[in-house]
Amino acid sequence: MFNNLSSLNAYLASRRSGKPRDMVAPGPDAAQLDAILHLALRTPDHGKLFPWRFVTVGDRDAFAALLEKAFIATNPDARPAQIEAAIASARFAPTLVLLLYAPQESAKIPLWEQQMSVGAVGMNLLHAAHAHGFVASWITGWASYDPIVREAICHGDEQIAGLFYIGTAGQPLEERPRPEPAEIVRNWP
Ligand SMILES: Cc1cc2nc3c(=O)[nH]c(=O)nc-3n(C[C@H](O)[C@H](O)[C@H](O)COP(=O)(O)O)c2cc1C
Repeated sequence: MFNNLSSLNAYLASRRSGKPRDMVAPGPDAAQLDAILHLALRTPDHGKLFPWRFVTVGDRDAFAALLEKAFIATNPDARPAQIEAAIASARFAPTLVLLLYAPQESAKIPLWEQQMSVGAVGMNLLHAAHAHGFVASWITGWASYDPIVREAICHGDEQIAGLFYIGTAGQPLEERPRPEPAEIVRNWP
């Protein structure tokens, strides 16, 4: 895709997230998704602890059923329309990958560094999807923090770092405000 530095810069300047609800087919096929996940794993990780996992969600109906069970457990009086709205995200976009934070015991590497590493995997995953010509989005939403969802997806101390939706933009992507470097950069001393 990049045969010179300016096309790489154009790529970096053009990447932005799409709304999962607006994503349409095609999403990545199995080989493309495998390549995207390989690229996402080329991520800095102090101590080679690999404190991250992916869960690809193949059965969206099963995921919707899990979200429904979790939502009703927390909102027992929810009306059917509220439940429907809360679990709609289970079926958004052609492809859904969950990124898990899997903290590793280490005398040397603080958890903070492991948390930063999983965040870097998330960013890399967005870049890898974009580099393959897809649009992607990183959403935590309520489901990432729900104990029933976490119990069903995670092992041990793992946490859901986010739901990554990947597909094709069905609507023009909206730009969002970006700070100017001058606003957030200072010299020291
Ligand atoms: C860890 C994390 C969690 C997020 N969770 C949500 C969310 O639950 N709902 C939401 O609307 N946006 C969420 N966002 C923001 C979206 O990903 C947003 O669309 C994105 O930051 C847009 O930036 P981009 O265009 O540079 O990709 C989250 C972002 C991050 C980094």
